[in-house]
Amino acid sequence: MMHLRFITSNKHKFEEARDILKRYGIRVERISIPVVEIQSNSIEEVAYNSLRYLVERRLVPSMSFLEDAGLFIKALKGFPGVYSAYVYRTIGCEGILKLMEGIEDRYAEFKSAIAFYDGKSIHVFTGVCRGCIGLEVKGSFGFGFDPIFIPEGFNKTYAELGNNVKNKISHRARALISMVKALRANIF
Ligand code: IMP
Repeated sequence: MMHLRFITSNKHKFEEARDILKRYGIRVERISIPVVEIQSNSIEEVAYNSLRYLVERRLVPSMSFLEDAGLFIKALKGFPGVYSAYVYRTIGCEGILKLMEGIEDRYAEFKSAIAFYDGKSIHVFTGVCRGCIGLEVKGSFGFGFDPIFIPEGFNKTYAELGNNVKNKISHRARALISMVKALRANIF
């Protein structure tokens, strides 16, 4: 059985990854080490540079990965994007709904970037989930912006759908699956 390590302090992210990877017969262990997040214009760069920082200092074993994610709202020119964690901590879901008041185009994308260390180099995998911002906070599952994000093809938020559905369609699931495909194809 393949065994990977997920560097994250977010228990929700870890549980999602564990459930998703289990479907592919992959076991994942959580490593909690403080990660220095390099500010940058893309989540791919944030993930890559955060992992590179740890690899250069020999702080992570091989077969480890970390993830950076963000919510990109079209009408707000991609905001909060790379600032999602800060924006969630400060204005939160209610603050985003306030910014979106009166805006008809509610299109948004959740993006995930995974940086994976194979013992020699770092590889980046991405996943996107298209959707829109709801009109109110709805649902009690999940974390972060889950209660305001409605994935395409559904009329419920991630937080109403719960992890069973979310883990089949989410940005994180897509990035993880793309990593799994590369691991299986043995491209490293
Ligand atoms: P991070 O920088 O990757 O930890 O995530 C940025 C922020 O985006 C987090 O603080 C969450 O608020 C939000 N976020 C990331 N992934 C998700 C998700 O799957 N659902 C809801 N919010 C998320």
